Amino acid sequence: MRISPILLDWYKQNKRDLPWRNTQDAYAIWVSEIILQQTRVAQGMDYYHRFIKAFPTVSHLANATETAILRLWQGLGYYSRARNMHKAAQQVMRLYNGEFPTHYPTLLMLPGIGPYTAAAIASFSSNAPIAAIDGNVYRVLSRLFGIDTPIDSTAGKKLFAQLAQEQLDKQQAATYNQAIMDFGALQCTPTAPLCDTCPFLEQCEAARTHQTAPLPVKEKRTKQRIRHFWYMDIWANGNTYLQQRTAKDIWQGLYEPYLIEGDYDETSICQHPFIQQINATIIGISPAYKHVLSHQTIIAHFVRLAVTTDHAFPDGLVKINGTEIENYPVPQLIVRYRQLNKQ
Ligand code: ADE
Repeated sequence: MRISPILLDWYKQNKRDLPWRNTQDAYAIWVSEIILQQTRVAQGMDYYHRFIKAFPTVSHLANATETAILRLWQGLGYYSRARNMHKAAQQVMRLYNGEFPTHYPTLLMLPGIGPYTAAAIASFSSNAPIAAIDGNVYRVLSRLFGIDTPIDSTAGKKLFAQLAQEQLDKQQAATYNQAIMDFGALQCTPTAPLCDTCPFLEQCEAARTHQTAPLPVKEKRTKQRIRHFWYMDIWANGNTYLQQRTAKDIWQGLYEPYLIEGDYDETSICQHPFIQQINATIIGISPAYKHVLSHQTIIAHFVRLAVTTDHAFPDGLVKINGTEIENYPVPQLIVRYRQLNKQ
């Protein structure tokens, strides 16, 4: 079966008018693809517009500070995407004189660009005949052809890469790649796909055998790790104190209050030596905030502390006036806490 004719016909009638589809600018396409890697179109749209407005060219992005980029990214999650974009932009300035590459192998050498993103940029910007395989494509192909080989196994990746490349309409690679993505996002959805109105209903192996739900198959289930965070929310004369996360861990580059991680409870955390060391008065302890990420669940409490002097503070805590707090990128967990506590 060749899926292209039916697929492109479907796309003509159902395509979404998305801003990054009206440009051949590889830089803008790259920005959209990185944003959309782990983010839905509806959520990504605003970020895309703000990002392109703040950094209209690769040179603007290369010259920005990492903190400014992370601040703009705040709320999107997977912050390594933003840090990698900064590095990639600097590399494009250095190696290609600011001209964003469109050549697949060249794209692959930039930080944060893997086979999917390189194929998307190369095909959307210059119609390169390379299949872009994202989660939508795995789902559509596994169902249409009834393939239950796990998509995250070596055999599965090879098989789907071959099938995707075979099915690609090489004369109109850009349109085809966009079409199959939209088809996965709008018609062949993860749960409750719209089989009743599907133009492939007759040909679809999964529909025939009532196997849309289990497809595509994944081998590894991601384990959730639980972590307990106790944030020291310190205030003194209208100033608060934040530190930057530098470790190779979640939220690298973002700011947060002083963190004690571990299995404490409300009583034992009050006995923590840090509180004595900085001579703080405990004002209160927040209820637990549960924050679910892709591989970990954070249970966080905020211990509100008042101090009169900061001379016993550990290095790395930055004193921040209440009015400049907005300039510091912070995890959404901190945003939620601030919203509830009117900070
Ligand atoms: N998801 C990832 N890339 C996309 C694109 N170009 N259009 C729509 N959804 C997408």
